[in-house]
Amino acid sequence: MPATSASAPGKVILFGEHAVVYGQPAIAVPVNQVSAKAIITPLIAASPAAIQIEAPAIGLDANLDELSADDPIAVALAGAFAALSVEQPPAFKLRISSTIPVAAGLGSGAAVSVAIIRAVAGFLGRSLADKAVSDIAYEVEKLHHGTPSGIDNIVVTYGKPVYFIKNRQLDTLRVGAPFSLVIGDTGISSPTREAVGDLRTDWQADPKTYDSLFAAVGEVVQQARAAIESGATGALGPLLDANHGHLQAMGVSSPELDVLVAAARASGALGAKLSGGGRGGNMIALVEEPDADTVALALQSAGATNTIVFTVR
Ligand code: PMV
Repeated sequence: MPATSASAPGKVILFGEHAVVYGQPAIAVPVNQVSAKAIITPLIAASPAAIQIEAPAIGLDANLDELSADDPIAVALAGAFAALSVEQPPAFKLRISSTIPVAAGLGSGAAVSVAIIRAVAGFLGRSLADKAVSDIAYEVEKLHHGTPSGIDNIVVTYGKPVYFIKNRQLDTLRVGAPFSLVIGDTGISSPTREAVGDLRTDWQADPKTYDSLFAAVGEVVQQARAAIESGATGALGPLLDANHGHLQAMGVSSPELDVLVAAARASGALGAKLSGGGRGGNMIALVEEPDADTVALALQSAGATNTIVFTVR
């Protein structure tokens, strides 16, 4: 069995995070500038079923049987073996690496899962349908998020822009004209689970207010979909700004995110918002392509620890 590798991109949510957990639509796109990679090599001399896992970035060097049953890597592997009906896999070493910042809203958990699942299938000479890959990654997302909408595993698996509604069939998005975005990282790691949990508590205390915020986000997402599909990308700027306002009202922004959003707007971005779980992590800004570097520099001056410029096609 030869060595096999698989990789999966990061992602950003353009519109609709948080409201998507409550049934509203959201739009997300893959970010191919960053990725997670899984490499599997056979362990010839080892006893069958010996599985070694190395993930240097998180200081992991262990055998699979040393991981707890709810470890995300163990759950991804178990899901892949079950989907492939493999009871005793041949011995192998799995090495995981990733350039996707962790707990930053860029889908690192989902990308690592998808890379692992596809590498296992490839190593065993099998293939798994995208739906199966995404479903397994969703099980892993539950460990990270608690009650995930499923958007991360979908975008990362399919690697295409998506219009997503929880528990509905996948809808990929036709991009009428390319548009450029700058991602700015606050450098603050913020577990999505906490932001989602706190928002749920607030929603339970005052469902009327929050349901109307979620509905307003849903409207923005519909308008954004129409703008993206028709190539009227200039219209996306004010929609990003509006969505950021909704997220502030939901209590999931932070002073650091607001500073970066303001810096992006002041340096020529057409619109900006936080992206993902919030409270830290990343924000995104829509830019005319020639302004991308200026906005990226302005974000760095305003405290961004990392910026990524990319074009959605
Ligand atoms: O922080 P991220 O980008 O992994 O995603 C969070 C998106 C939420 O809508 C806040 C939660 C979810 O499960 O959709």
